[in-house]
Amino acid sequence: MSKKVLVVYYTQTGQLLDIVNSITAPLAADSEVSLVFEELKPKPPYPFPWSSDEFFQAMPESVKGIPCELEPLSFKGQEDFDLLIIAWQPWYLSPSIPIHAFFQDEKAKKLLAGKPVITIVGSRNMWVMAQEKIKEYIRQANGRLVGNIVLYDKAPNLLSVVSVIRWMFLGKKERYLLVIPPAGIAQDDIAGSSKFGHLIHGALQNGEFDNLRAELVAAGAVDVKTNLVMIEKRGIIFFRLWADFILKKGAYGSGSRIGRVRLFKYYLLIVLYLVSPFASILYLLLKPFRSKAIKKQISLYQSN
Ligand SMILES: Cc1cc2nc3c(=O)[nH]c(=O)nc-3n(C[C@H](O)[C@H](O)[C@H](O)COP(=O)(O)O)c2cc1C
Repeated sequence: MSKKVLVVYYTQTGQLLDIVNSITAPLAADSEVSLVFEELKPKPPYPFPWSSDEFFQAMPESVKGIPCELEPLSFKGQEDFDLLIIAWQPWYLSPSIPIHAFFQDEKAKKLLAGKPVITIVGSRNMWVMAQEKIKEYIRQANGRLVGNIVLYDKAPNLLSVVSVIRWMFLGKKERYLLVIPPAGIAQDDIAGSSKFGHLIHGALQNGEFDNLRAELVAAGAVDVKTNLVMIEKRGIIFFRLWADFILKKGAYGSGSRIGRVRLFKYYLLIVLYLVSPFASILYLLLKPFRSKAIKKQISLYQSN
């Protein structure tokens, strides 16, 4: 029986579209499946590459879920899709601003109601807190999250901070000075992600999504790194405080808040390079005593 699948995504560099294309390849190969792609287009677009001020400007709105304007969505909200796939990226441990805008759109809420939803994340490596917000959006719209697939940059955390900043500010992805690995998600991981598409295809054909989450997790779709979760959990608390502090001076792009945005930039660099290495060492020392709590965290963040 023919099936209709809507794929919603936003991407600046094209990385997330590559991931989406790889995962949906098994669906695209089936003539019984009609795939409809909806690219979210912020109005005006976010810059890429970013200037430093523009990049850090995006923090308060990402963290507080303040949406941007989007080009009108091409659907009405009444369309009857069998499955929704929503591909998103984290900005500042939160969904990116265009993704907030999508979930807050009335037509999108209608579309989600009563429908099975699969999320795809294309991140550096810190996506867990943001996925909790995405789960909340889907729940509020009465959608049914049936699976999640996370791709991330597997380079060591403090090296991928440098490579992602180089990529975001200069548009350069390649290896740098021997020690800095290429930026972004490995091509092999992107190509290999079509294995998740086969699982989605099977569930779609049967019209039965109850086992999909467990199948995806067993296939390695949701690798929760609890050392990074620890950083995220603390980080998001401070980001919220900084976001309120900056927003008191004005909305996105307002010149009067730039002083506070720059203070936040220095705060973030200090925390990343001076505080987070100590926190990671402490985490390793305590790890043997926390195995139960760690297992619990992994199963919580692998759940829907
Ligand atoms: C403003 C900004 C903030 C970001 N914050 C995070 C983050 O908190 N966690 C993370 O894993 N990746 C973060 N990233 C990386 C993105 O999630 C994403 O991997 C990258 O922007 C490339 O994806 P895209 O071009 O497909 O959007 C951030 C990127 C931007 C532009």
